[in-house]
Amino acid sequence: MRKTIFKFMSFRMLSFNLIVAVCENFGIGINGNLPWRIRSELKYFSRTTKRTSDPSKHNAVVMGRKTYFGVPEGKRPLPDRLNIVLSTTLQENELPKGVLLCRNLEAAMKALEDKNEVENIWIVGGSGVYEEAMASTRCHRLYITKIHEKFECDTFFPAIPDSFREVAPDSDTPLGLQEENGIKFEYKVLEKQ
Ligand SMILES: NC(=O)c1ccc[n+]([C@@H]2O[C@H](COP(=O)([O-])OP(=O)(O)OC[C@H]3O[C@@H](n4cnc5c(N)ncnc54)[C@H](OP(=O)(O)O)[C@@H]3O)[C@@H](O)[C@H]2O)c1
Repeated sequence: MRKTIFKFMSFRMLSFNLIVAVCENFGIGINGNLPWRIRSELKYFSRTTKRTSDPSKHNAVVMGRKTYFGVPEGKRPLPDRLNIVLSTTLQENELPKGVLLCRNLEAAMKALEDKNEVENIWIVGGSGVYEEAMASTRCHRLYITKIHEKFECDTFFPAIPDSFREVAPDSDTPLGLQEENGIKFEYKVLEKQ
């Protein structure tokens, strides 16, 4: 009798979080860069997107083409994280080795399904990627730095769907109003209910 061999494939329905810094007039960027310079906020971004509970794992950061190339040349790809760039026009040879090019967000999720070494997936912008991410059933939490000032911007954060409600931030998040170089800001976390 012939034996039938069943090959069980591991399948994970992946979810992700989103992280953004947004100013009072809902701006997130200008001329391909951030409209402000807040070092402690950049450190918060780095710390949060790198954090894993399993030290043998790392996280993935998913971003649009303009966000990737907006990162200063010497600082990209973002270190210690799998960088995934979404683009319909880029070719693989235009990105450094180790950076993953995906043609859309779902393709990125599919590519991550069998990457068991990736613990958390962070959506890090820009505008259209945030909009698609927040509308997705995969979206769990929004990590939003609210900057209490208006800045001149050409790129904006989309409207947050009503299904998100504020929850307590992670234990290492500085609570309450922060200030750097006279700019006041606050770390918030919203979760899909
Ligand atoms: N404040 C913050 O937290 C924050 C965070 C991130 C970015 N930013 C700022 O935002 C600006 C960049 O954002 P942006 O909205 O202009 O551009 P972006 O989303 O970073 O890049 C847009 C490009 O990404 C590709 N793309 C986006 N969504 C895609 C999808 N679903 N599938 C395939 N390709 C996709 C397309 O590239 P192709 O044209 O090649 O197809 C599109 O033209 C910069 O100023 C940056 O500094 C701020």
